Amino acid sequence: MRRLLVIGNWKLNGNKNTITNLIIKLVEACANISKCSVAIAPPVVYLDLVMRYLINSNIWLCAQNVDVHVSGAFTGDVSAAMLQDLNTRYVLIGHSERRIHHKENDTYIAKKFFILKKIGLIPILCIGENKREFDSGHTESVCLNQIKSVIKLFGVEVFNNSVIAYEPIWAIGSGMSASPERVQIVHKLVRNYIANYNVSIANEIVIQYGGSITPENVTQFFNQKDIDGVLVGSASLNVDSFYKIVQAAENHDKSYHG
Ligand code: PGA
Repeated sequence: MRRLLVIGNWKLNGNKNTITNLIIKLVEACANISKCSVAIAPPVVYLDLVMRYLINSNIWLCAQNVDVHVSGAFTGDVSAAMLQDLNTRYVLIGHSERRIHHKENDTYIAKKFFILKKIGLIPILCIGENKREFDSGHTESVCLNQIKSVIKLFGVEVFNNSVIAYEPIWAIGSGMSASPERVQIVHKLVRNYIANYNVSIANEIVIQYGGSITPENVTQFFNQKDIDGVLVGSASLNVDSFYKIVQAAENHDKSYHG
């Protein structure tokens, strides 16, 4: 059965003091959360620090990126094995900020997906169209192609116990979220596409939405049948805002899924 999954992506923000402060308060606030899953993705250098506060908490650790190699002469990279060593559970891959700023393409991202599955971590495959693609009606084909590239290389089975995050690029950090009804259409399409290969994987896969989520708009997204959680950027940097979003997930009975 799918559970709502709320992830806070702190991106390239914070320092030792602010991050310690934030994680202590969040762990405290989320002490009674039991009906949804919550994770935090701090900058990589603070994973170890955050992990120490998450022991015996209700919050999982998420990494913002991973390399395709497990070890060796790859200066500056971080491997899936290292992330696992730090008790990481989820790893974001294919975030549009990496696709844009680091020129990561679908094949490269698919390799990251595969290595994470091999090591036993949960990939969160970020997909989504840019404004031009949205305006020209190409949202569906862009999103499905991003998923297809993983299926083509590794088969649909790798999507078993994985997460997809639909994040229209134009909605990220813009204060202008996509409409929940429109997001539902894309999520349904993605689920149906996976169902063509394997119905039970399609029924189980968690499909999050991301892009200008706030405590004020989040419930409208949870009300949609195929939206199984949210990936939160800016609003996750504030304890009150993020906790309100988590609470909205906790109070939203989505156990009808399946
Ligand atoms: P945002 O970021 O909530 O600030 O729009 C979302 C994301 O990039 O995951």
